[in-house]
Amino acid sequence: MNRMPVILDGDPGHDDAIAWMLAAVSPELEIRAVTTVAGNKDIENVTKNALSICSLFGIDAPVARGAHGPLVAAPVTAGNFHGETGLDGAELPPPGIRLSGYSAVELMARVLEQSGEPVTIIGTGAETNLAALLLWRPELKKKIRAFYIMGGGIETGNWVPAAEFNILVDPEAADIVFSSGIPVVMAGLDVTEKALVYPEDVERIRAAGSRVSAIVAGWLDFFGKTHAAMGYKGWPLHDPCAVMALTHPELFDMRDACVRIETGGMYTRGRTLADFEAAESFNAKVLLSVDRRAFVDELVKAVRVYR
Ligand code: BDR
Ligand code: CA
Repeated sequence: MNRMPVILDGDPGHDDAIAWMLAAVSPELEIRAVTTVAGNKDIENVTKNALSICSLFGIDAPVARGAHGPLVAAPVTAGNFHGETGLDGAELPPPGIRLSGYSAVELMARVLEQSGEPVTIIGTGAETNLAALLLWRPELKKKIRAFYIMGGGIETGNWVPAAEFNILVDPEAADIVFSSGIPVVMAGLDVTEKALVYPEDVERIRAAGSRVSAIVAGWLDFFGKTHAAMGYKGWPLHDPCAVMALTHPELFDMRDACVRIETGGMYTRGRTLADFEAAESFNAKVLLSVDRRAFVDELVKAVRVYR
């Protein structure tokens, strides 16, 4: 089978890690690079996590450290939402691979240059590296097939009422990505707050009985605690939606839209606005709902691969 080349860019993070596992087990995807961006935690932490995750899931691709902070804004991190390490809840193996000597943007550019076909970039953190790549090497745009991103929310925010965390961290970067002319598939809160795992789903994952399933269940227990404290009954797996939109588009309802990013606004900075009628300016497909049971089944299937 001709596999689709992808680059994974994120800030692991429990849901980033689970998203990367889904990419790793997909027979349709070929992971050409993994790059990190500050967000859930500082860049050192998320990069260390990325190396461990790649070892754990057998991702055989170079890993490069990315942006320490947003293009122009002051850095924001997700506090202790993902724990002290950014991936609390399970003991991780020490990283068995070395960090690339390239920066994230250099590595992405090399992958694009060397690829015979356009590459899809899956972004599950702030879009800083993605925007930096577009600014630095605009001629490589034609080598990017699409951006599949977790970010934004048409109806709601999470970090602040108007904005979702990844977009809020770097609205200028998100604006560059959404205005690039490259197709964007947006897995925002509209869908990710419906991609819930409940405690009984976590037990199905644990029951797969492997080292990987024990670690993923441990992560979800931790992720569950931070969400339960906020009143959630199920835990939203945001970032896995961005991967599954690529590997299992049939599980989602999506609509074409013109999506713009608010970069000003006293109270609305980082907001994603969608116009579903402006057909002449459509730049994104916005995911709106998911078949939750089928989504959870895919997670269970993924951990079983590691038995
Ligand atoms: C996003 O913010 C991060 O904390 C998660 O990893 C996800 O990418 C959800 O708003
Ligand atoms: Ca993330």
